[in-house]
Amino acid sequence: MHRKKSILDIQKMKAEGEKISVLTCYDYPTARIIDSCGVDILLVGDSAGVVVAGYDNTLPVTLEEMVYHTRAVMRAEPKAFVVADMPFLSYQVSLDGARANAGRLVKEGGAAAVKLEGGENVAPTIRAIVDMDIPVMAHIGLTPQSIHRMGGYRVQGKKEEQAERLMADSRAVEAAGAFAVVLEGIPMKLARRITAELAIPTIGIGAGPFCDGQVLVIHDILGLCEKYSPKFVKKYADVRGVMTEAVTRYIKEVKGGEFPTEEHSFN
Ligand code: KIV
Repeated sequence: MHRKKSILDIQKMKAEGEKISVLTCYDYPTARIIDSCGVDILLVGDSAGVVVAGYDNTLPVTLEEMVYHTRAVMRAEPKAFVVADMPFLSYQVSLDGARANAGRLVKEGGAAAVKLEGGENVAPTIRAIVDMDIPVMAHIGLTPQSIHRMGGYRVQGKKEEQAERLMADSRAVEAAGAFAVVLEGIPMKLARRITAELAIPTIGIGAGPFCDGQVLVIHDILGLCEKYSPKFVKKYADVRGVMTEAVTRYIKEVKGGEFPTEEHSFN
């Protein structure tokens, strides 16, 4: 049985060259399963808005919804280190607002850390939250909450100037006190450069193999979503297929009077 992981374990993994495994999680039963497999970090991502609630992007997700999902995950008593995403508008408006909202994800949600998107522009926000003893995971590159600025979900940092800006972003979030940084949708050579330069762990998604850890959305690796799956996703199972088969059989057995039998009935 593995023991509860802390921020110290995550930092030690980079120091010792052990890759960090991260998966998103939004509910109790999934948290029980993923955690029993020994994942290092559970990320209660605002991707919940897309894969659970069916929105087109993450912008509509509220803090209340993130608290709800985080509480559900925490009820599974995970051994993994739990990070909760700060949704759009929960940290951009004011430092006081960011502090209060990060505090709610820890106090009401039960998370051990929060994640927010942005580089140099959010460095003061990261510092303000870290100063109240809440660890912050940063997130740079393809930041889904910036979908309208980016003009879609596009790989970032392909041009030299963009790459240098991302280097500066990575330095800024580390200097502001972030304990780790997600690198999303950037060329693998740039991810390797950032990973080599920073002392904090880099967690890649669509950023190649040279990061200190990897994160994927649980619905994507399980093959639960019908929609287009990006190049960086590896599907480890066809749970959609398994569910479709089970539900189709159930309907057929109910219609045919084969379910329930005496075995599933009371005397
Ligand atoms: O919300 C999320 O799931 C994320 C990860 C994909 C990094 O931010």
